[in-house]
Amino acid sequence: MNCLVTGAAGFIGSHLCRRLLKEGHYVSGIDSFTDYYPRSIKEANLAPFSKHKKFKFFPEDINRIDLNKLLQNIDAVFHLAAQAGVRASWGKNFSIYTKNNIEATQKILETAKKYRLTKFVYASSSSVYGSSPELPMKETNILSPFSPYGVSKLAAENLCSLYFRNYGVPTVSLRFFTVYGPGQRPDMAFHRFFKAILLNKPISIYGDGKQTRDFTYIDDIIEANIVSLVKGKEGEIYNIGGGNQLILKNVFSLLEQICQKKIQLQYEKKQKGDVLHTFADIKKAYVDLDYSPKVRLDEGLQKEWNWIQRYLS
Ligand code: NAD
Ligand code: UGA
Repeated sequence: MNCLVTGAAGFIGSHLCRRLLKEGHYVSGIDSFTDYYPRSIKEANLAPFSKHKKFKFFPEDINRIDLNKLLQNIDAVFHLAAQAGVRASWGKNFSIYTKNNIEATQKILETAKKYRLTKFVYASSSSVYGSSPELPMKETNILSPFSPYGVSKLAAENLCSLYFRNYGVPTVSLRFFTVYGPGQRPDMAFHRFFKAILLNKPISIYGDGKQTRDFTYIDDIIEANIVSLVKGKEGEIYNIGGGNQLILKNVFSLLEQICQKKIQLQYEKKQKGDVLHTFADIKKAYVDLDYSPKVRLDEGLQKEWNWIQRYLS
């Protein structure tokens, strides 16, 4: 198949390109190298496959490129490009989120409706739930985002649903729950924690550390994308989680074991927009996609630690 991956140079997008190429697909990748984190990291993400003969890369902005040309001969779109990050989405920054998350999604869907795609897989987020009183979070829960980022991800997810209902664009939205592993974005918790440990600095914990997250290893997220291509039901939305609800402060003893170092903790104030708990109900993904997370937290964190030591050396 000819696949288009948006956000191809990002954390998840680059892993997905690599896997699609491994499966024998042709891959076009687009990424505008937004400045949320350094371009050098994104170039390093692309490096292992940038010269692959089935890979084409467009260093462009979805909002500016001729999407008609980009989507010609494409069978499936994986739409991951976005301004990520919950805590940075307040204030003036919000326009970056509306432009890259909402407007860019609307433009690509507008173009997609003219082509007969096999699948349009959208990278949605657990942030659409907000502080849900109902745990685990089911796709049918009431959605009440708690951050401007969550609002923008939900708006884009709603756009996917309405382009399916009105124009038959074969969208499948996957709500990823906090993704970790090699290549993780530098603003995210485990990347920051491992970096601090390596530099013998204290780890910053936002709030009291009693918040919980359903952490999902990158390979499980990629597997969910791959199976969605064939098994994802058009117009449907699926939670993609790691299968566990972990209390943040309980993870530190595991980090100490992995890094073989004593950790220093520094408590900081709770960040606006951060929800207290996430936990995915993944029954729907199990039934329709045959999805079940395979990588345990200790294995996944070990891999991230191995990666970060190489990356920061
Ligand atoms: P990332 O920032 O590493 O990757 C996103 C990429 O999109 C970046 O490289 C950026 O340059 C690119 N981009 C942004 N706007 C663009 C535009 N207008 N045109 C072209 N490229 C553009 O983030 P990530 O962690 O890999 O997240 C990928 C997707 O998954 C995002 O949609 C994010 O909202 C979603 N998601 C991520 C997580 C997570 O835990 N990482 C969880 C839930 C959902
Ligand atoms: C992550 C991603 O950053 C979002 O892009 C994504 O949409 C979201 O997951 C999702 O699941 O939808 P978040 O859960 O905040 O958001 O992921 P982390 O940055 O890894 O934070 C996890 C927890 O650690 C949060 O409770 C956060 O407050 C805490 N944290 C983070 C700290 O205590 N200290 C830090 O230095 C960083």
